[in-house]
Amino acid sequence: MTVLVTGARGNIGSRVVTRLQAVGQQIRATARDLATLSVPEGVETARLDLTGEDPTAFTEALKDVDTVFLYATRASAAPFLKAAHAAGVRHVVFLSSPASYEAAEFRGPIGRIHRAAEQDLAASGLDHTILYPSWLATNARRDWGAAIRARQPVELPYPAAQCVPIHPDDVAEVAVDLLLPDNATHRGRMQVLTGPASMRLDEAVAAIGAELGRPIPVREISREAALARREPWMAAEILESLLDSAAAAVGRPAPITNTVERITGRPARPLRTWAAENRADF
Ligand SMILES: NC(=O)c1ccc[n+]([C@@H]2O[C@H](COP(=O)([O-])OP(=O)(O)OC[C@H]3O[C@@H](n4cnc5c(N)ncnc54)[C@H](OP(=O)(O)O)[C@@H]3O)[C@@H](O)[C@H]2O)c1
Repeated sequence: MTVLVTGARGNIGSRVVTRLQAVGQQIRATARDLATLSVPEGVETARLDLTGEDPTAFTEALKDVDTVFLYATRASAAPFLKAAHAAGVRHVVFLSSPASYEAAEFRGPIGRIHRAAEQDLAASGLDHTILYPSWLATNARRDWGAAIRARQPVELPYPAAQCVPIHPDDVAEVAVDLLLPDNATHRGRMQVLTGPASMRLDEAVAAIGAELGRPIPVREISREAALARREPWMAAEILESLLDSAAAAVGRPAPITNTVERITGRPARPLRTWAAENRADF
């Protein structure tokens, strides 16, 4: 049987593909545009837009599929989930976000998108597990990479906001455990995944600097300045929501769970491990 990996180009999706292949699992890796997708040799690919309206694409992508790794989408993926149920999919592992339930983002767009996707999944009748990872370490590259590379200060509107960086490999390894056929021990529940330590955002910057062997200056900026410097690829309402969440996390250490160790048998990796592996990006 095949594991269908949606978003196989994504930070987590690509790692899920690599790990499934390493254990000899049959995989179908999908992307909306196959020209953007590069997969390890031997991995089957298929074009798939989860919010598309092409039932043939769903049928082809779902042929012989036992389990699905699913990303959240802005529009509803309900027709795809219906097709997955009809195709006999036995389990879905959904990458959600704590924004789905945390007060600061509950009513914001990130909360709404993930909650709507969870409701679609519940309504589909598909057996599923929801993953709630904490602050992805890859955010550091997305949000601070350009400044660090340019040897400029990292500008933070809420430097004292607490986050729990989680290594994307830890998220992928948990997902793979849940996706493997007949490996049902941890399925069917919500799994809240965190890294090993809560830290302030400026401490996360410092941890990357320690790994690079040079201090990275941080400059506190106002919320208004952060909004004015919004990158074009980030919708204004998403940035507003992220800022609300950071504001709510100031001085509040975030909870730590043992989920990564409980499921993978290994402790969650610290941020410095991710930084060491990704030095070239900084
Ligand atoms: N950032 C955080 O701190 C954080 C914390 C908790 C949870 N999360 C969750 O994790 C996600 C980010 O994970 P990531 O870094 O691995 O994401 P990523 O690298 O940005 O990849 C997102 C993937 O989603 C796929 N996708 C989006 N819309 C789709 C659609 N309509 N049909 C099919 N595929 C679609 C994309 O597929 P294509 O290749 O076709 O574009 C892409 O590969 C967030 O969106 C959120 O749901 C994030």
